[in-house]
Amino acid sequence: MKMKIFSFFSFSKCFSFSSSEVTAEDAGRGEQILKNIIDAFSYHELKIATNGFCSSNKIGEGGFGSVYKGKLQDGSVVAVKVLSVESKQGDREFMSEIASMANSSHENLVRLRGGCVDGPFRILVYDYMENNSLFQTVLGEEKSRAKFNWIRRREVALGIARALAHIHEEIKPHIVHRDIKASNILLDHNFNPKISDFGLSKLFPDNVTHITTCVAGTLGYLAPEYAVTGHLTRKADVYSFGVLLLEIICGRTSIDFDIKIGEYYLVEKAWQMYNSNELLHLVDPVLNGVLFEKEATRLLKVGLLCVQEKPNIRPRMSTAIEMMKGEINIDDVQISRPGLITDIMHLKVGQKRRSSRSMMTRKRSSQLYAL
Ligand SMILES: Nc1ncnc2c1ncn2[C@@H]1O[C@H](COP(=O)(O)OP(=O)(O)O)[C@@H](O)[C@H]1O
Ligand SMILES: [Mg+2]
Repeated sequence: MKMKIFSFFSFSKCFSFSSSEVTAEDAGRGEQILKNIIDAFSYHELKIATNGFCSSNKIGEGGFGSVYKGKLQDGSVVAVKVLSVESKQGDREFMSEIASMANSSHENLVRLRGGCVDGPFRILVYDYMENNSLFQTVLGEEKSRAKFNWIRRREVALGIARALAHIHEEIKPHIVHRDIKASNILLDHNFNPKISDFGLSKLFPDNVTHITTCVAGTLGYLAPEYAVTGHLTRKADVYSFGVLLLEIICGRTSIDFDIKIGEYYLVEKAWQMYNSNELLHLVDPVLNGVLFEKEATRLLKVGLLCVQEKPNIRPRMSTAIEMMKGEINIDDVQISRPGLITDIMHLKVGQKRRSSRSMMTRKRSSQLYAL
C-alpha cells in the first residue's frame, strides 16, 4: 500500500519520489531529500505488483540482477529491478544517490520512479518500456530492422546523444554511464529511445563492474583506455556511443559475422571502408535508399570520430550532436585510426593494474579469451 512519508527513517525503509519534488540543490543532501519523499513503495507492494516476483513476470536478467514487469495499484506498468550486487553505500547514501538519479530527468532517460530498501533487498522501479531495446530491434532480424527507416534511426541516435550530453555536460557533478550498449537503449510506446541503467554504476563498489559478460558483443563497446587501465572518463561513454551509432546505421552488432570473412569488428570494418571511400556500403541494406546518403556518410564519420583511439580526439557529446546535425562540418575534421580492444594481451596489462577485481571482472576477462 502506498503511504506518504516525511521523515523517512522513522517510518519505513521503502521510498519513491517524483523528480519534480527534488531540486538540483537537494541532490546529494541525503536526509534533506528524504524529507521531500512521498508515495513510498513497500516491498509488499512490489511483491504484489510482480505477482510475487513470479518467473512468468521476469523480463530479463542483467549484470545487476533480475528485472520483472509489474503493475502498481494505480494501474501503471513498471519494470522492477531487484539488485543482486551488493551496494557500496548504507541505506541512507543509497537512497540519496537514487534521489539524485531520479532528479536527473530527461526525455531520453528511462524514468526512475522509486525503489525499496528492505532488509537485504534493494529494488529499483522504472517506467516500463514497451518496445524492447535496440538490441532486439535495430540490430535484430530484417523484419524488425525494416521498421526503423532512416529518419527514425537518425532521431534515435540523436535522442541517445542528447541524453548523454545531458548527463555529461548539464548535470553537476557530471555522470559517466559506463555501459552504453544497444541493450541499454530501450524504446517507449512511440519508439522514442531511452537510456536505461543511468547512474547505476555509482551505487556499486568500483571493483564490481556491471559490464555484463553474457553478451560477447559487450566487449565491442569498451573504450580501450577503460578496458586496459580502468581509467574512466566521459570519453569512454563517447567511445561506446560511437560504436552504437555505427550499429544503428549499419544494422549490425559491433562484433558481427560474415560468411566470407568470418567474425569481424564493425569499428575495424568502418575504418577500412572509410579509407577506401566505401562507407556507404556499410549502411543497412534494408534502408534501401539514396536520399539520405550524405547524412548517412556524415553520421558514420561521427561514429568513427567517437571511437578514435586517443580519448582527447573524440568529441564531447554536445559537439558530436552538432556534427550529426551538420552544424559543424565533419569533412574538416581529421579522422585517424580508431581504437579497438581485440586481443587479450591488452587486458592482461589492465588486470595487473587493477589488482582487486571482482568475480564479475574475472568472468569478463575469460569471456575475452573466447573471442
Ligand atoms: N524499464 C524497462 N522496461 C522494459 N524492459 C526493461 C526495462 N529495464 C530493463 N528491461 C529489460 O530487462 C532486461 C535486463 O535488463 P538489465 O538488467 O538492465 O540488463 P542489461 O542492461 O545487461 O541488458 C533487458 O532485456 C531489458 O530489455
Ligand atoms: Mg540494462
